[in-house]
Amino acid sequence: MNFDFTETQLMIKETARKFAEDELAPSAIERDEKEEFPYEAVKKLGELGFMGMMVPEQYGGAGLDTISYVLAMEEISRADASCGVIMSVNNSLVCYGLNEWCNEEQKKKFLIPLATGKKLGAFALSEPEAGSDASNQKTTADRSGNEYILNGTKNFITNGSTADFILVIATTDKTKGSHGISAFIVEKGIPGFSVAKKEKKLGIRSSDTVSLAFDNCRIPSENRIGEEGFGFKFAMKTLDGGRIGIAAQALGIAQASLDASIQYSKQRKAFGKYIAEFQAIQFKIADMATRIEAARLLTLQSAYLKDIGKPYGYASAMAKLYASKVAVDAALEAIQIHGGYGYVREYNVERYLRDAKITEIYEGTSEVQRIVISRALLKD
Ligand code: CAA
Repeated sequence: MNFDFTETQLMIKETARKFAEDELAPSAIERDEKEEFPYEAVKKLGELGFMGMMVPEQYGGAGLDTISYVLAMEEISRADASCGVIMSVNNSLVCYGLNEWCNEEQKKKFLIPLATGKKLGAFALSEPEAGSDASNQKTTADRSGNEYILNGTKNFITNGSTADFILVIATTDKTKGSHGISAFIVEKGIPGFSVAKKEKKLGIRSSDTVSLAFDNCRIPSENRIGEEGFGFKFAMKTLDGGRIGIAAQALGIAQASLDASIQYSKQRKAFGKYIAEFQAIQFKIADMATRIEAARLLTLQSAYLKDIGKPYGYASAMAKLYASKVAVDAALEAIQIHGGYGYVREYNVERYLRDAKITEIYEGTSEVQRIVISRALLKD
């Protein structure tokens, strides 16, 4: 076993940390308060090569491995988890799927602008009645000559109103269950496609989360990804990798909670001593650090398995399940350590808790991760 990072991986981590500290952290509280999408930061993330990190260079990406992606995601999310999810969706749900399963023409038209950060992507699987039960797709895509006609609603779509290209999962044959679901690329602005509702959220408030409506929206059949009926497997395989990104996002929030706790406890005095001198605080910090390190190892292990071409869905489910819980617990402890200051918006830690909670919900709830893990263990 080798736990050393390569020089490139260390350089990526350093670049991400510097960008996050200089450009994201100072304005993160304000963006959260105003629920303001970080257009400028996303543009710069693209220029740094962080919007298509694992895409080969020939398709506009940075040609890096998943470990580098995890390191960068953690650093970005440590400063601003809203930026983290924007980056994660574009990298692991959109660019990954396009790179793996699109044809050459689709890659030239859609993947290159997405991987270079010139365009932004979204992934539309969830529906009002299809969250955890993802195969219960009510959105339909009916074939009509060289087109498909889309009808239905997609819910809770990250990047939904800002994205230029949206990967849409829809039913092409109701009689076939999960085998009758297909995946499509929809371009922003086409007739019949609209943003139905912008969500007001507990956390990750400067990311964009909306419902999308399709009303007799016609898309060319060349925008279908893979064969008809491949859509559910496409979504599941893509989410296997997406969960590594969300685990890394959770890790970033947890690390930020620990860093803030260490810093605060060395400055704040109570009963004539710095609170860091009390064992009650010391033990909280020790527990937080230990859990974060375990979450980091699980997350890096799942990234490593993906990089060496081994099955990783089980490992990424474990990483997300564990890291998301660690993030919520770390943020709660950080608030406790900060006392009243932890509860007010002037400090970052209450934002960490609000941001952490979603990592237990999106890209598969913690209960869904337990389904994935237990099925892998119990199958014949
Ligand atoms: N890789 C490849 N194939 C897979 C797969 C995977 N990871 N998971 C399932 N499949 C295949 C199965 O093998 C099966 O194929 P066959 O019929 O040929 O045998 C088929 O897909 C159906 O699988 P299941 O019977 O396991 O399906 P299920 O209905 O029981 O659902 C589930 C399983 C794990 C609960 C799944 O529905 C799931 O993951 N739900 C959560 C969805 C999710 O994560 N949504 C997140 C939305 S995106 C998002 O959140 C983005 C964002 O904003 C940040």
